[in-house]
Amino acid sequence: MQNFLKGIMKTITTVSELQKEICAAKAEGKTVGLVPTMGALHNGHISLVKRCVGENDVAVVSVFVNPTQFNDPNDLRNYPRNLDADVELLRQNDCSIVFAPSVEEMYPEPDTRTFDFGMLDKVMEGAFRPGHFNGVAQIVSKLFDIVKPHRAYFGEKDFQQLAIIREMVRQFSIPVEIVGCPIVRETDRLAMSSRNARLTPEQREIAPFIAQTLNNSLTFVPSKKVSEVIEWVTGKVNALPELRVEYFQIVDGNTLQPVTCWDETEYIVGCITVFCGDVRLIDNIRYK
Ligand code: PAJ
Repeated sequence: MQNFLKGIMKTITTVSELQKEICAAKAEGKTVGLVPTMGALHNGHISLVKRCVGENDVAVVSVFVNPTQFNDPNDLRNYPRNLDADVELLRQNDCSIVFAPSVEEMYPEPDTRTFDFGMLDKVMEGAFRPGHFNGVAQIVSKLFDIVKPHRAYFGEKDFQQLAIIREMVRQFSIPVEIVGCPIVRETDRLAMSSRNARLTPEQREIAPFIAQTLNNSLTFVPSKKVSEVIEWVTGKVNALPELRVEYFQIVDGNTLQPVTCWDETEYIVGCITVFCGDVRLIDNIRYK
């Protein structure tokens, strides 16, 4: 498929200019894909961008560190930002439009909307980061409203986020196809993340142990009980003094509710969050 504006990527910072570009493209019958990001781009993000470029005439990538989804002001302050490098990487990957608005542009007044995703946003990240998914829903719904993309791309790395976006689209009948993309890993299995840049060299050596432990736990299914696998993974990771498991849950991949035995449902995923120093890393693995 011929990509719209191939090679002449535009960087846009205002909603009105973005809407003008998208209106013009749609008037020519072009399809529009959206990849929402918070920047500090790596190959995980780029895998979404490549898919978006391949499947749509116009690929819009948003780069916006969304303050409303940070429940910890330190995390917001320390979040890596590197727009120039991001823009260059996106240019090399045939992105059509980078949308990099200011906070004032996205939130001209405070967003007071509250979302309720039932049981989906009460567990795991929802329980440990109160308000996080409300902020994600605020920004993603705004982006959907502005761009009205045919397709939008999200990574399975943020497994719960993907489930919540699908639920939001269902609840509000938003006419967009949500495309889930597999986790991209470093060669030592560490899931790529913008936060990895904050690991010290020593922490970077140890962090892959999380994904390696998850992967090793696959061999216990179904011979060990779910509770035994939870104990084994948590124990192994916590045995390293540099790592501290915040939660490890084995859940139904659709409802995100904990399962107690392997034959309870057809789709089972283990979701983990681990602190490596003060860097919060998340990962997941599909058991079934
Ligand atoms: P961010 O963490 O920048 O991630 C943007 C997208 O890239 C998300 O859909 C995420 O799941 C995906 N992604 C990140 N690392 C990945 C990896 N290693 N493999 C595959 N996909 C990966 O997620 C957010 O931003 C924000 O919450 C956002 C949706 C942009 C709303 O602000």
